[in-house]
Amino acid sequence: MVIGGGIIGLVTAWRAAQRGFATTIVDPEPGGGAAQVAAGMLAAVTELHYGEQTLLGLNLASARRYPEFAAELTEATGHDLGYRQCGTLAVALDADDRAHLRELHALQRQSGLDSEWLNGRECRRLEPMLAPGVRGGLRVDGDHQVDPRRLAKALVVACERAGVVFHRAWAGRLSVARGRATGIVTTDGTELAAGQVVLAAGSLSGQLAGVPDDVLPPVRPVKGQVLRLTVPKRHAPFLSRTVRAVVRGSHVYLVPRESGELVIGATSEELGWDTTVTAGGVYELLRDAHELVPGITELPLTETRAGLRPGSPDNAPMLGPTELDGLLLATGHFRNGVLLTPVTGDAMAHVLTTGELPDEAGPFTPKRFSTALTEQPA
Ligand code: GLY
Repeated sequence: MVIGGGIIGLVTAWRAAQRGFATTIVDPEPGGGAAQVAAGMLAAVTELHYGEQTLLGLNLASARRYPEFAAELTEATGHDLGYRQCGTLAVALDADDRAHLRELHALQRQSGLDSEWLNGRECRRLEPMLAPGVRGGLRVDGDHQVDPRRLAKALVVACERAGVVFHRAWAGRLSVARGRATGIVTTDGTELAAGQVVLAAGSLSGQLAGVPDDVLPPVRPVKGQVLRLTVPKRHAPFLSRTVRAVVRGSHVYLVPRESGELVIGATSEELGWDTTVTAGGVYELLRDAHELVPGITELPLTETRAGLRPGSPDNAPMLGPTELDGLLLATGHFRNGVLLTPVTGDAMAHVLTTGELPDEAGPFTPKRFSTALTEQPA
């Protein structure tokens, strides 16, 4: 059984069903969640941070699997995922941004990653809509994109075709008997039994009643506001790859889809469960995006939306068995849920089958948090 029908729960259920498990997903609205908001950057290299080299390994493993994963999912469902091998250009607008980007470049090189430093003129040659003030940038040809809404839809269809049962309700309480998770009770009172329960409820994963306190995942919601604009056919091509920057300390990115949709994201706000789209959020995204690409002000603004990233204490996911027998986690993917979908599906299918995480997922055991607690000096 999988609690949560977002992309992480869906991919886990799909891969489990392919391995022969009788699988149920519990979610009132499968295919919903953060994937309905996310831009879908597959940004293993451009979102690299100091201290996150272990996560980089998992991110790169997942990025490498994307072409085959997308092809398999399309073959299974007939749905195109909008997987686009377009690359990314991270640019700098002032001396501070440029220094920040130079540091990122140095870290990428130390980590053996491919990226190329370009001056402002070279950036504008690649992307003529960039502002004249762009001072330089990093060309990262390996950071691509997928359309998360299409991905979610395709995963729902793949699950249906693989025989996954959808129970359209909220999980209310985990059932535990003799020290083992045995299923759940839904908020409408239905009891569902399961040999193994995977908690994959995104930012809600820390909220399920009945989970012992020391097992409850330390996941928190991190709000992201995202805008969608439409590039009319006469403007195409507007941008040919993802363009991003850190402007006054905030990340802004523009992700152009082949359909003409242009996604601009994202704020990062620690405001609990609030998903209000605010004037300030929209203003800051448009202001920063406009500094990078002034021509966006001509485009229709077609959608504004906010979602909740499942943040974890070390920004990395929690994958695999917990200290409670029968309860596993696939949550806490924070900024990388779309990127980590293929590797998460494979890792969870492996651990459900063998009881062990595959090597690349070993560092992401949820037990790293309980171990850290027990190792505190008295
Ligand atoms: N990875 C992009 C975001 O979380 O905003």
